[in-house]
Amino acid sequence: MQFAAILAGGSGVRMGNPNKPKQFFYLGEKPILVHTVEKFCASGLFDCVLVLSPESWVQQTRDIIEKNCPQYSDVVRVTTGGAARNDTIMNAIRYFEESEFSTEDAILVTHDAVRPFVSLRIIEENIAAARKFGACDTVVPATDTIVESQDGAFISAIPDRSKLYQGQTPQSFHMEELRDMLVSLSDEESAVLTDACKAFTLRGHKVALVRGDVSNIKITYPQDLRVAEAMLEG
Ligand code: CTP
Repeated sequence: MQFAAILAGGSGVRMGNPNKPKQFFYLGEKPILVHTVEKFCASGLFDCVLVLSPESWVQQTRDIIEKNCPQYSDVVRVTTGGAARNDTIMNAIRYFEESEFSTEDAILVTHDAVRPFVSLRIIEENIAAARKFGACDTVVPATDTIVESQDGAFISAIPDRSKLYQGQTPQSFHMEELRDMLVSLSDEESAVLTDACKAFTLRGHKVALVRGDVSNIKITYPQDLRVAEAMLEG
């Protein structure tokens, strides 16, 4: 089985509209998350594409999916996300474990709802790498020099840029291994290890790199939405 979890459980504080999480903002003629869901459904690679949204938005999310992608009604489902991003991922795992699907050796591809320009190549390579290595992260080589400062006032290090990458999503996993790793985290670890790949790495598990794309942008701030609009028109 191959499952996708579209992470749409955040509230989009940096986007600045407290009444509407950014994944529901319009990009072109439809909400951002619809673009993302369509990419996963159109790939034809998933037994189920699960959208996880904030509790108060679940019914609206169902309505949006029904209205915008009726052709994918047999593969898309909607459920509630969690308080933190990893809780949303854990809700996805629990959903699949309680579903009629077999979860033995299943692959879970997790993706930010607010990265609507993910490509088929990236999705395919995530599935292949998760099957082969158990875990993978999508990255692009760092373009800016990364400066480290321990105190926020002076430089403590400038790491070699040729070994640095910027993380994107999807992040994909052998689902049972991901579940075992997430439940093994203490409360203190969970508070710090907000990135599932980081937690995997710190537990000594190898996480393979999948080549991302500079166009696979995350919509975080209002200016990102303007860039996304321009990309859509282009
Ligand atoms: N996300 C999620 N569940 C959470 C928190 C985040 O599913 N509890 C999702 C977001 O909906 C988004 C993705 O994870 O699609 C990336 O997170 P980010 O861009 O940080 O989203 P927000 O947490 O919504 O943004 P902000 O930090 O500005 O509030």
